[in-house]
Amino acid sequence: MKILVAGGAGYIGTHTCVELIQAKYDVVVVDNLSNSKYDAVKRVEKITNTKIKFYQADCCDYKAMEEIFIEEKFDGIIHFAGLKCVPESVKVPLSYYNNNINSTLVLLELARKYNVRNFVFSSSATVYGNPKTLPLIEDCPLSATNPYGRTKLFIEYILEDFYNCNKDFNIAILRYFNPIGAHPSGLIGEDPNGIPNNLVPYVTQVAINKLPYLKVNGNDYPTKDGTGIRDYIHVCDLARGHVLALNKLSTNCGLVIYNLGTGLGYSVLEIIEAFNKVVGHPIPYKIVERRPGDIAACYADPTKAYKEIGFKAIYNLDDMARDAWNWQKNNPNGYNQ
Ligand code: NAD
Ligand code: UD1
Repeated sequence: MKILVAGGAGYIGTHTCVELIQAKYDVVVVDNLSNSKYDAVKRVEKITNTKIKFYQADCCDYKAMEEIFIEEKFDGIIHFAGLKCVPESVKVPLSYYNNNINSTLVLLELARKYNVRNFVFSSSATVYGNPKTLPLIEDCPLSATNPYGRTKLFIEYILEDFYNCNKDFNIAILRYFNPIGAHPSGLIGEDPNGIPNNLVPYVTQVAINKLPYLKVNGNDYPTKDGTGIRDYIHVCDLARGHVLALNKLSTNCGLVIYNLGTGLGYSVLEIIEAFNKVVGHPIPYKIVERRPGDIAACYADPTKAYKEIGFKAIYNLDDMARDAWNWQKNNPNGYNQ
């Protein structure tokens, strides 16, 4: 089975390529490198001891993508190629709508034209908006609180409409909770541009003294210690979820939607504590104001993915902290060695 991994040079894409190759899939990566480096693909080659076919191309470019579809004759597509920074999406919403939605439309149009009937989409727990009940099941009401989230929500609707008139397609919408950590080899990991927005890369950059201290955004939420609660999932577990989703699609299952999370919620202070242990010294932090748009708590009910595709997270929080720190320590400047 030959899989197009669109956005496969990025954080989740590289880890998924490792899992796919180890599960004997043939992988072709297409990435415009707008938020990644080709070196990441080279490192996947090193981990898996294989050569990966790579095209530097924009998934919104129909003509360039069509040439790749004709050349490669894919059996399936995993679509990671999106912009993902929430505050940036508020500043330049049209770029987010343009990139995230058009890349999906181009991939779907070509999938239809060249009969590539298996499609996996990277959605996000952000489509649950501000949850009214926890844990989140796939049937919970959907909403969006920012342009990034709205692109994910719109794309989910687009996929449903597409499926309704292409019933011979199989589509998996995967709603990721909070992916963190890195491959245990320390060769690939998360490499944000500039100052990280997300908690864990910020923590690891404080731990190597690139940043002075962590700003904990709010300690007055109605949670166990007042700080925000999230469902952190090891990126290698998440990556394995894609292989399981592809296996499911090969049973001709139609359109399926799964939460990919652990079902456990950890607070910001618990995350700091986990990192204190692996780093070996306390991570300095200050409590500051809430981050606009943040929710108090968000965690998955992962039962459906377990029952239907056998997905269960293996790594615990200590493993996630250990691997995130191992990556950061070995690659203080990310892929810019
Ligand atoms: P990432 O930025 O590391 O990877 C995305 C990759 O897609 C990058 O390599 C980028 O260069 C590429 N890309 C973007 N637009 C493209 C285009 N038009 N054509 C070709 N390549 C393009 O992000 P990630 O963390 O690996 O996330 C992958 C996907 O999962 C994204 O769609 C993201 O929205 C979604 N997601 C991520 C998270 C998270 O916390 N990381 C959570 C939920 C959902
Ligand atoms: C954020 C996005 C979400 C996106 C996800 C993955 C927002 C509002 N939400 O989720 O849409 O799908 O990233 O890319 O941006 N925190 C701090 N200090 C920091 C950073 C974070 O205290 O410097 C706290 C936050 O308040 C939150 C927790 O850490 O409670 C996790 O934050 P983060 O890693 O940014 O993830 P989300 O907010 O869940």
